[in-house]
Amino acid sequence: MTFQLAGQGAEIYEDVMVPLWFGRWADAMLETVAPQPGDRLLDVACGTGVTTRLAQDKVGHSGHVVGLDINAPMLAKARELAGARDITWIESDVTDSGLPDGSFDLIISQHGYHYFPDKPAALAEFRRLLAPGGRLFYSIWDGHSPYTQALCTAVAAHISPEIAAKQRAQRETQTAAELTTQAVAAGFAQVAVHRQELQIDVPMAEEFVPLHLGSMPIADAFLALDTDQQQALARQVQTALAGYVTQGRMCYPDAVHLVSAQL
Ligand SMILES: C[S@@+](CC[C@H](N)C(=O)[O-])C[C@H]1O[C@@H](n2cnc3c(N)ncnc32)[C@H](O)[C@@H]1O
Repeated sequence: MTFQLAGQGAEIYEDVMVPLWFGRWADAMLETVAPQPGDRLLDVACGTGVTTRLAQDKVGHSGHVVGLDINAPMLAKARELAGARDITWIESDVTDSGLPDGSFDLIISQHGYHYFPDKPAALAEFRRLLAPGGRLFYSIWDGHSPYTQALCTAVAAHISPEIAAKQRAQRETQTAAELTTQAVAAGFAQVAVHRQELQIDVPMAEEFVPLHLGSMPIADAFLALDTDQQQALARQVQTALAGYVTQGRMCYPDAVHLVSAQL
């Protein structure tokens, strides 16, 4: 399972998916994390930096925020959006930051953990980087939403079952019990998994699906379809979501699991 974007992926991710999806989850996550002025905070798999910027607002000038991501175009966008903010950006795998032991009070990661190929190694690195008493928060999807379920069915019908399997894997996430077991096995204390649910609204499928898939690792397969095929795929999603349309938008529930733990 990977999340590596090429071409215009980072731009579309920031312009479309952050306002409609990830920015909303970032607000919900930071409300729970509640960073304090002066905290030293690491945002792992920061992407274009939506959680990183929110965190920096909270820790202020007396704190310090580092954003880490493996993907250069995502980080380039994050740097551009941060402007003059005092944020350090590191291009690195989660397990290879080179940062000193015990250098953070808080580590956060929104929708990154699912993609880490070696989860025990990632959790061990979080332990190494946290100061005594430091806190860890990371979120992943709680499986599919009605929209992503319909999207994967339409991708299988209009592109291929293999490409649909790749897209489906984005939502094939660990259960709350599995997440708890992994964090406890890594030596964390006070492990808890909170389910957060939001009502998400996005434009109708004919507008949203091309934008969404354009920001996904399977973008090339979607863009290889001709316009009629792309529209047919989107129409199939719209039909499946007919019961979720309100005021000209698709409105559906979606949920994440937010893991919290302490050193
Ligand atoms: C769905 S995006 C989430 C980005 C951001 N946290 C947000 O909420 O918008 C997943 C991010 O995980 C990053 N990522 C995936 N595997 C990684 C790894 N092994 N180490 C560091 N970052 C990774 C990707 O480059 C991508 O930016």
